[in-house]
Formats: sequence, structure tokens, C-alpha cells
Amino acid sequence: MSDRVYIFDTTLRDGEQVPGCQLNTVEKIQVAKSLETLGVDVIEAGFPISSPGDFNSVVEISKAVTWPTICALTRAVEKDIDVAAEALKYAKRGRIHTGIGTSDSHIRYKFNSTREEILERAVRAVKYAKKYVEDVEFYAEDAGRTDNEFLARVVEAVIKAGATVVNIPDTTGYCLPAEYGAKIKYLCDHVAGIENAIISTHCHNDLGMATANTMAGLMNGARQCEVTINGIGERAGNTALEEIAMILKSHKEIGLDTNINTKRIYPLSRQVSSLMNMPVQANKAIVGKNAFAHSSGIHQDGVLKNADTYEIIDPVDIGLDTNSIVLTARSGHAALKYRLEALGVHLEEEKLDKVYKEFLKLADKKKEIHDDDILMLAGTDWTRSRHIKVDWLQATSGIGMKPVASIGLDIAGEKFEAAATGNGPVDAAINALRKIIKRQITINEFTIQGVTKGADDCCKVHMQVEHEGRLYYGFGTSTDIVTASIEAYVDCINKFTK
Ligand code: KIV
Ligand code: ZN
Repeated sequence: MSDRVYIFDTTLRDGEQVPGCQLNTVEKIQVAKSLETLGVDVIEAGFPISSPGDFNSVVEISKAVTWPTICALTRAVEKDIDVAAEALKYAKRGRIHTGIGTSDSHIRYKFNSTREEILERAVRAVKYAKKYVEDVEFYAEDAGRTDNEFLARVVEAVIKAGATVVNIPDTTGYCLPAEYGAKIKYLCDHVAGIENAIISTHCHNDLGMATANTMAGLMNGARQCEVTINGIGERAGNTALEEIAMILKSHKEIGLDTNINTKRIYPLSRQVSSLMNMPVQANKAIVGKNAFAHSSGIHQDGVLKNADTYEIIDPVDIGLDTNSIVLTARSGHAALKYRLEALGVHLEEEKLDKVYKEFLKLADKKKEIHDDDILMLAGTDWTRSRHIKVDWLQATSGIGMKPVASIGLDIAGEKFEAAATGNGPVDAAINALRKIIKRQITINEFTIQGVTKGADDCCKVHMQVEHEGRLYYGFGTSTDIVTASIEAYVDCINKFTK
């Protein structure tokens, strides 16, 4: 068996299903190009029948990317497959990823069907997709909870029908590593013709076992793994690409290799985080802010004497450049462009000009501009026109006084002003704003995070609000916490007001 593991990246499909983190087509192309530079083998670019946006992204990514295979998801439905094939028409190498639920729970409750009928539908879908492309991947949704004997029958039948890759998703993140590994081994041992296809892992992280399950799958015969940058994805997310790449690089004794240029991991992690406005948790393995930060005296002493004492990965191997250039207000347009490109972000001149203007404004407030700052600026959509804009904001707070804020809003050209008190400056500012926008809005989530470090740091605010039973996400950034919070709140409101 080959020792090459194919990396199938689904950041732009399964990863992008995180509520509030959707990318537009231009942003998806940027990420796809960075994935190509990273060295992934397959990019799952979308689910074309699900929306015109997804269709268009598959088309544009197919045009923009040269060598990775471009994959489009479908259900085991002919219309889905027709649309996916149409979206893939510019792909140099196109793959259709079709499938159906195979667990008894899916068969009974989702399809109100029988095992035999599902098996037939699976085979029919693969044969139908083969009319369009040679490379057809079949997924057995909820394979993690599917009876192994039935799963083996399905896998055998779809390989016979022409599937080149069979995906064994642990859709609910339920499996234990030994159980998932045994499932893959069972298929390798019991499926006639298994040597004609590649088995793929696709593990969700609901119980925190996605990476362990993926490794168990690879060590038992799978040769493709489906992963996302930073492990993003619905609920608890998917297997993190960076974890698998670094496990295989660190544990040479496993004897498996990927095509990943690990030095591109850190910049791409930051790019995805800033474009999706989705913070990476500080203690996230490999790419978290604290992943290489030793704080205990014993560790620091050891690392200073010899990094090998406590560091199993050289930060340089993931592209964490501790000596990266710091930009200042005197840095020119070219320096900003150079630094962004070194981080894998290529911007059109028009957007670069806008980012440079914002960079100068930020550099006026902050002495040093770090990589995370410029990625944050590059990831912000400066072109979106806003129905409601904050003209001005003033907030006063302190010890022994009642926080008070006043605000001026521009609503489609009309001017409004209000003032209010609150239990803090953010609360006061939001109360003032609510006097103007008299809607029932509940804040469900409110996260403030520093971008780099220092008292003059920029902060990012992520907010989720509920209005008339629907959820809306907003994002704000500023060196001023109250401003960033109000920007995030207004960003949410702009999503439901016209
Ligand atoms: O988790 C899952 O089962 C999936 C399939 C659609 C591949 O994402
Ligand atoms: Zn999935």
C-alpha cells in the first residue's frame, strides 16, 4: 500500500457551514489559491445546487486553481449531479462527491426507506456521475454509526459502479478511535475490489476525537483524509488539517507522507481566521497563540537551554516567523503589499489601496503593526455599503461614576442622536443606540479578543444577536473597545434592515 496520504480540504464546503462565517466568491478564491500553495491535493469548493453563490464559487475556483483536483458535493440526486458537473466545467481535474446516508437511523428517519433501496440509489448516483467525470467520490453519510457488514456491501457496490474514492464519514463525531480504525480495517479486509479505490476519512469533532479518529483511519488503511483549516466546521468542527500534517511530519515512524508545505500552515490559518472573522482559540494545537508560549519557569529554562527539551515542533516548520517585519506609519504601500503576499494574501490594487488607507489610520493609533493586524485589515470588507452608519460615539466611564454614552447615527442619510447610561460604557452605548433603533434585539454572544499584544492593541468583537427568531452575526474592530463593540452591533443590525 502506498505511503502517500491525499489531503482533501473542505474548508470552503463543510468548514464554511459555520453560521455567520460565510465567505464571498472573491474571498473563497483567495483561500483556494492559498490552499494550492499549501499543497493540498483536493479542494472541495462547494455544494453547487445549494445556492447560486456556491455554484459560482465552484466555477471561479475551478478557473483560478491550477493543479489540485476541484471537488463539488451533491446528494444522490440526478439534478444535483447535473448542476455539479456544470459547475466543474472549467476544472482541470474535476471530482463529483456524491452520497447518501447509510446508517439505520438515516435510512429510517431521513429517507423512510430500506437498506436495499439505499444501496440501489448509491449505485445509481455513482453511475450517473461517471457519465460526467472519471473521478467520482462516494460518501456513506453517518458511516460512523453504520453497521459494518452493510457498509461493506455499499462500498463494494459503489466501487464496482466506478467510485474512485469512498468516504467513510463519522458525521456525528460519535466513534471512538479504536472503533473507527477497526471500521476502516474491516472495509480493507472484507470489500472485494477495495484496491481499486482510495478510502477516505471524514471525521467530526463532537466528542473531541476528530484528529484521533482520522489518525486511526490512516493507520488502518485510509489514504485520503478530509480536513479543514483550523478545524472549522459546523458544531464542534472537522479534523484540523494542520494537526494531521504535523502529526505525520513529527511521527516519521508511521511512514505516511503528505504533499503539505508546512511552512504555509500558520499564514493560512490566520488568513482563514481573519476572512471568516472566526478567532482561533489561544490553546488550539499547532496554530493557537499559546501553542509555543512556555510560561512555567521550568519550561522556559529548558527551552532556552535547548528547544528540544519541551518543544516537539520547531515553530519555523509551521511558518511562525517570530522575526517577522513589524510595519509602522512610515511603511509604504509596497511594504504592505510585500508583507501581505508573504502571508499568502494577494489583493487586487483597488482593495489594496483601501486596506493601505485603513493601515495608515491604524498606524496613527498604534506604533507597531503586526501580521495579525494587517490580516485583520485585509479580511475586512471595506466596500460593503451600510444602511446604518455610526457618525460619532462618545462614552465616559470610570471609578465612582455612572457610565454614560451618546451616539450619532446616519440611517440612510437621516441623522439621529441619543444618550443613555448603563452598567459600563458598552452597555451605555448600546442603550443609547436602542433609543434610536427601537427593535427587539437580544445579544446572545459577545466576544472581545485582542489582535496582537500591548495596551495599544486592536481588538476584534464578534457578536451574535437574535431578532424576530433569527440569528445575525456582526464583527467590529478598533483600538477602542466601545467603538469595536458598537460597530459589531451595528453590523448585526445592518444584516436585517434595508
Ligand atoms: O459529515 C458528513 O457526513 C459530510 C458528508 C456530506 C460528506 O460532510
Ligand atoms: Zn462533514
